[in-house]
Amino acid sequence: MSVSVRPATPADREGIVALHQAVAAIPGGLARRPEEVTADYGDYALANDVCLVAVEADGFICGEIHASREPLAIFNHVLGGLTVAVHPDRQGLGIGSKLFEALIAWARAAQPEILRIELETGAANHGAMRLYERLGFKHEGRQTARGRLPDGRFEDDILMGLLLF
Ligand SMILES: CC(C)(COP(=O)(O)OP(=O)(O)OC[C@H]1O[C@@H](n2cnc3c(N)ncnc32)[C@H](O)[C@@H]1OP(=O)(O)O)[C@@H](O)C(=O)NCCC(=O)NCCS
Repeated sequence: MSVSVRPATPADREGIVALHQAVAAIPGGLARRPEEVTADYGDYALANDVCLVAVEADGFICGEIHASREPLAIFNHVLGGLTVAVHPDRQGLGIGSKLFEALIAWARAAQPEILRIELETGAANHGAMRLYERLGFKHEGRQTARGRLPDGRFEDDILMGLLLF
């Protein structure tokens, strides 16, 4: 299957919303629940400093990644607020890796310099964590009981960071 990664455009809004609704419907991945992926989610994703989509030959958006530079001067070299999603039927095919490679290339070329990329993941999301480790992200901490699941159980969040220097 041929998948290309490119910057998202306003024409991708609906595809991004549909993608996130499909991914959010599977528990254990995205923090957002399906009902929290509202119609304006595409605009929210596009408003980030970087928003990339993975697109199949027929235009189907099968993956998306976005993140933003921290605004305060002291943190201005940091890219945070990262969210990545690959359609449930397309996971494990290398699309997430491709999205990250493009994001890291964008960050390396950004001016002023971006020297750190950070993200959080649920402690039970072992698959995503393996991918982040393979990309070079290091575990930096654990936030106890940061998440609360629909059944009332708590879940810790793991903080991870990738240095670009
Ligand atoms: C996490 C995610 C973005 C990875 O994208 P992907 O296209 O499946 O990843 P790739 O195919 O490039 O890489 C595969 C690696 O991702 C990990 N992975 C995570 N979820 C996976 C899944 N459902 N199926 C297969 N691999 C998965 C594995 O570690 C795998 O590495 P391995 O082959 O060494 O076991 C994607 O699975 C996804 O959208 N998951 C649901 C949402 C989510 O968890 N987002 C991240 C929140 S922090």
